[in-house]
Amino acid sequence: MKIGVIGSGTMGAGIAQVAAQAGNQVIVIDNNIESLSRASNQLVVTLDKLLGKQKITAEKVKQIVGNIQWLNDINSLHDADFIIEAIVENLEVKQSLFLSLESVISPSCILATNTSSLSVTSIAASCKYPERVIGVHFFNPATIMELVEIIPAIQTSSEIVQTTKNIVDGWNKKTVVAKDTPGFIVNRIARPFYSESLRILEEGFANIETIDSALCQIGFRMGPFALMDLIGHDINYTVTETVWKSFYFDPKYTPSFTQKRLVEAKWFGKKSGRGFYNYQEGADKNSPDKDEIVCSTITNRVLVMLINEAANALFLHVASKEDIDLAMTKGVNYPKGLLKWADELGIKYCVETLDTLYKEYGEDRYRCSPLLRKMIVQQTTFFKP
Ligand code: NAI
Repeated sequence: MKIGVIGSGTMGAGIAQVAAQAGNQVIVIDNNIESLSRASNQLVVTLDKLLGKQKITAEKVKQIVGNIQWLNDINSLHDADFIIEAIVENLEVKQSLFLSLESVISPSCILATNTSSLSVTSIAASCKYPERVIGVHFFNPATIMELVEIIPAIQTSSEIVQTTKNIVDGWNKKTVVAKDTPGFIVNRIARPFYSESLRILEEGFANIETIDSALCQIGFRMGPFALMDLIGHDINYTVTETVWKSFYFDPKYTPSFTQKRLVEAKWFGKKSGRGFYNYQEGADKNSPDKDEIVCSTITNRVLVMLINEAANALFLHVASKEDIDLAMTKGVNYPKGLLKWADELGIKYCVETLDTLYKEYGEDRYRCSPLLRKMIVQQTTFFKP
């Protein structure tokens, strides 16, 4: 199968490696020659490292490198079967790229976009044949993260969805299908992990070390503040703001001033040496408060807010319950699926906790999903028999 990848930046280079590793012929296109040579050199360095650690054979390295061509002319994609774009996140630029591609490619070629925040439907709308356009959202780093969200535009044909799923499954990825709604599955459901933790911090209930430590205690690999520092506040804040705006300013998704100030100060996190934590050598760090009531208040608040978001995504048919749980465990490494977690905690407990928060704060962000309420009346669970 011939794969085209457009954009040789962070995501494009990773996706190209994934497809080449699975044995496909890949052509990577970029309009910036320097980016192409940087990406092809970096691939060799990465594979050499893996070879040094004996995680890959010399033969496989040769095969992967040999499977990829790095070019700068989209006409080379005339016989591609599947093209995925990972260029700049700008609707007009993506639309114009797809329009020019349509005059080059074969009628059967699938056009995929790796967009993380634009509507796939709006990208498809620029095409003569929008039924072959689909969202294929990888997570960073694409070579390591197993999850890929498949997002049909409202114009996408069902055959294209199935063929795309088969292709990406063949790249050793776990695919989930998501409705074309803001944040798809992961970037939508994960919002409260950050926003509720920020809120707890802003209230002065606990410091960052305590909140991070409490959430790690219940199985999260990283606490929200360490994770935001790692992702970079410029990126994490933009995702939150985009989701909030796309949901017509639903107060549930309101971004935090605390995080905005970090962005304004250019305290982007680990990459800039300072975010919530100070990454300079010898910088002070507080010891986390281990008080049981403090820790359980933090974890209950964050967890029920996450569960509420997952339940509401299911209620609104964003994805199936199986895909929602798979997405959160494979896309952001949550220790278990949030709906499974809801069953374990008890649906009644989740609703009561949300109602208590709603009563205490009188804020819409704590409104409980109608699905959870209905489940109490019907005495049902998500997965438990
Ligand atoms: P990047 O800035 O690292 O790379 C973009 C590349 O596209 C650059 O090499 C640039 O020269 C090239 N490019 C720009 N316009 C072009 C055009 N018209 N034709 C050909 N090449 C062009 O960007 P990154 O981070 O790889 O993101 C790419 C896409 O993937 C965006 O849509 C982004 O939202 C999405 N995405 C990014 C993730 C991330 O964590 N970085 C995660 C998931 C999706």
